[in-house]
Amino acid sequence: MPNLSLLILPGDGIGPEVMTEVRKVIDWFGDRRGIAFDVSEGLVGGCAYDAHGTPLTDATMAQAQAVDAVLLGAVGGPQYDDLDFSVKPERGLLRLRKEMDLFANLRPAQCFDALADFSSLKKDVVAGLDIMIVRELTSGVYFGEPRGIIKEGNERVGINTQRYTESEIARVARAAFDLARKRSGRLCSMEKANVMESGVLWRQVVQEVHDADYPDIELSHMYADNGAMQLVRRPKQFDVIVTDNLFGDILSDCAAMLTGSLGMLPSASLGAPMANGRPKALYEPVHGSAPDIAGQGIANPIACILSFAMALRYSFDLGAEAARVEAAVQKVLADGLRTADLMGPEGGTPISTSRMGDAIVAALGAV
Ligand code: IPM
Ligand code: MG
Repeated sequence: MPNLSLLILPGDGIGPEVMTEVRKVIDWFGDRRGIAFDVSEGLVGGCAYDAHGTPLTDATMAQAQAVDAVLLGAVGGPQYDDLDFSVKPERGLLRLRKEMDLFANLRPAQCFDALADFSSLKKDVVAGLDIMIVRELTSGVYFGEPRGIIKEGNERVGINTQRYTESEIARVARAAFDLARKRSGRLCSMEKANVMESGVLWRQVVQEVHDADYPDIELSHMYADNGAMQLVRRPKQFDVIVTDNLFGDILSDCAAMLTGSLGMLPSASLGAPMANGRPKALYEPVHGSAPDIAGQGIANPIACILSFAMALRYSFDLGAEAARVEAAVQKVLADGLRTADLMGPEGGTPISTSRMGDAIVAALGAV
């Protein structure tokens, strides 16, 4: 097998701590399974700003374009709050998404059996939950022009633009239909066609793509506000959801929390296939940099480890190895091991970030 190149960008806050544990998993596959990853490391976010005055250097951007997959920890922190918008840590991440053209963001929300009690919802509402949100990631109000804060008479006016082209809608719809075909065959598309023209077009294009190429998929449309309500009312009615950048940002946080802890959830951001047939790809945990607990060695590394599992599956065609990582996570949870974020009302003794990583690595050989 040719070497699989991976750029690791640990980022800020708990990013470096959780990434150290991912490295152990990567090394396990190298040592025990002979799967050689060609790993390089770089800076993104606040740490890149501290070192270079920019949240992402051109050199790191070029490296990201050249590798098979990028694995990112998290960006941001309160010390960067007052920075100019153009150099905020988040801009580094947004630049990666935009320039790599990672239009399909896959955010699974899966409730682990051992953690069903953790949800703020009743156990029977969330037990067995397994949904996938496909969020459009390179357009919409995040990037639309005009944008800015302008002066109008004596007032300042904040402007952002929601903008979607047909082709932007169609390509993310296709990604979602393809996924739905591999899962339950159902897709729900969410927008606000009742108030936004971009929503009207979104609904039309998703329907057209369906009728032309995916008539076998059961497609439904829902207003995004109703979607939010349905997600907390009866989340198991959904399998795959496709939605735009901003609604997807919000709905995926909502869906994530149904599962009890943000510390558990990975994501994949995929673009068009490269020359080698692999999609452009960036993997990252859904959680943020958690500056309040950074540096204490108590963060949960599972979301980042599961993000690497998604890389195995979607970038490297190593589905069985991905399933092995996921099974190892299930095993340590079933064995009762918990980081601090997974401490329920019954209490217990939390384990550290590195002990959780070690336990998962130990379980890799036992599942
Ligand atoms: C996310 C985050 C980002 C977003 C931020 C960090 C720019 O909330 O990945 O969901 O809004 O997309
Ligand atoms: Mg978000």
